[in-house]
Amino acid sequence: MIYERRLAWSVLFRLFHWFFALSIVALVVTGFYIGDPWTNTTVIKEGKIFTMEYMRYVHFIAGFVFTGAVIVRIYLWGAGNRQEKIMDFLPVTSRNLKNLFSTVAFYLYLKDNYEDRLGHNALAGLFYLITIVMAVLQIISGFYMFYPESSFWQSCGLLLFGTQGQGRFLHHLFMWYFILFAFVHFYIVVWNDIRCQDGLISSIFNGRKFRPKKV
Ligand code: HEM
Ligand code: HEM
Repeated sequence: MIYERRLAWSVLFRLFHWFFALSIVALVVTGFYIGDPWTNTTVIKEGKIFTMEYMRYVHFIAGFVFTGAVIVRIYLWGAGNRQEKIMDFLPVTSRNLKNLFSTVAFYLYLKDNYEDRLGHNALAGLFYLITIVMAVLQIISGFYMFYPESSFWQSCGLLLFGTQGQGRFLHHLFMWYFILFAFVHFYIVVWNDIRCQDGLISSIFNGRKFRPKKV
């Protein structure tokens, strides 16, 4: 089989991916600390180190980076290249529904060959969509706590989550979605990279996948 390299992901998409992934790492570490500080909130050494202030500061910076990344991804759903557009992977068309079932069969080892695609398979695409919806909820609950003086964020938060306490609890709970997603996602991309020939993992760095060349 002869393969050719084709551009799958734009630079903006790859930037979104890595800003999104790395901001989540920072948000989870600092979020765990904010929720349950594991050391003194003020460590006194030569000078004073305000651990809680520092963690909150990093959390908020990462929170804005995360928000920016999510806005970029939503923009690319409409304005990205063919693979990045939402209709390329959302399982609502007959092409994507067929792909959804064949991917499930491939993942369950019921069939050996996968349907070759330049973009996401429909199963992955469905979970990526759910992830962005969860991210929007996480952003709203975050800004609900961050801007107690803003009537916009207060009414959004009250409507969606209830009181500040409930919003905070849900913000914490949603964090576990991202932790679980990250582990399953990592497992699946490595599994795919081993079983398939398209060079999936390197595509998130260089944007290119290998496709069988039609001769
Ligand atoms: C995946 C993304 C995020 C994760 C995993 C996350 C995680 C957390 C966690 C675990 C807490 C502590 C809650 C508790 O247990 O009581 C927290 C607090 C907080 N987060 Fe996030 N967060 C995320 C995104 C955001 C965003 C986008 C914002 C917006 C600015 C934000 C703003 C806040 C605020 C204001 C607090 C309360 C801080 C305080 O009371 O001192 N978070 N976050
Ligand atoms: C070293 C770690 C990682 C690697 C190698 C990696 C690799 C990849 C690859 C190859 C894709 C494209 C997969 C496809 O075509 O279906 C992808 C997509 C994605 N990754 Fe990662 N990833 C990593 C970490 C993360 C983390 C920590 C997160 C967030 C928790 C994340 C979130 C996503 C999302 C949301 C997409 C879909 C983008 C979209 O179309 O909306 N990734 N990743």
